[in-house]
Amino acid sequence: AIILDGNGRWATERHLPRAAGHRRGVEAVRNTVEQCARMGIEFVTLFAFSSENWRRPADEVSLLMRLFMSALQREVDQLRRNGIRLRVVGDLSRFEPTLQEMIHAAQRDTAGNRRMTLTIAANYGGRWDILQATGALMRARAAAGADLGAPVTESELAQHLALSFAPEPDLFIRTGGEQRISNFLLWQLAYTELYFTETWWPDF
Ligand code: IPE
Ligand code: IPE
Ligand code: MG
Repeated sequence: AIILDGNGRWATERHLPRAAGHRRGVEAVRNTVEQCARMGIEFVTLFAFSSENWRRPADEVSLLMRLFMSALQREVDQLRRNGIRLRVVGDLSRFEPTLQEMIHAAQRDTAGNRRMTLTIAANYGGRWDILQATGALMRARAAAGADLGAPVTESELAQHLALSFAPEPDLFIRTGGEQRISNFLLWQLAYTELYFTETWWPDF
């Protein structure tokens, strides 16, 4: 599981606009995904856009959305050829309908792939995930006519988390020098080894 951070500072250091850092960040995503697949890593989860990132200036948010769409458009064939299944987790309701459709299509087109699962966390927050899982758990109990007040077990809740299809990560990496989790996978990181590096994401 990786928090990719430092695109903006990579660019600023080079007297370039932040957008240049985000573009290079997309290249780094491609390289990292390829390298992980080659190494036989079966699950890679990338934090690409947090629920807090909406607070950035509107032109930066819209650039990130356009980069996301163009990467989806360009890379889905490549993912399919390389046996990579794409999943996107997070509250997608805030994204433009065209982007939502592209995400659903990309997930559908790669659903049969088994070599590696690449998960993009977009408009994701760890607290959001635990809360949506709690709601889903209660709805599932209600639908089954089960006792709503019965104690909740870890495995029952985990079934409703957005990443229920993936094992808990062995390794967490954050680039960009900050040593915090920033509301990423709060539940799943309980026993994960944490690795922080000063390297900006585009250089990783
Ligand atoms: C990470 O780089 C990319 C996203 C959060 C989308 P930043 O944009 O956070 O770069 P810095 O932290 O300002 O350097
Ligand atoms: C962390 O980046 C989240 C993502 C990479 C999506 P930020 O740069 O937004 O994080 P904080 O707020 O500085 O922790
Ligand atoms: Mg940052």
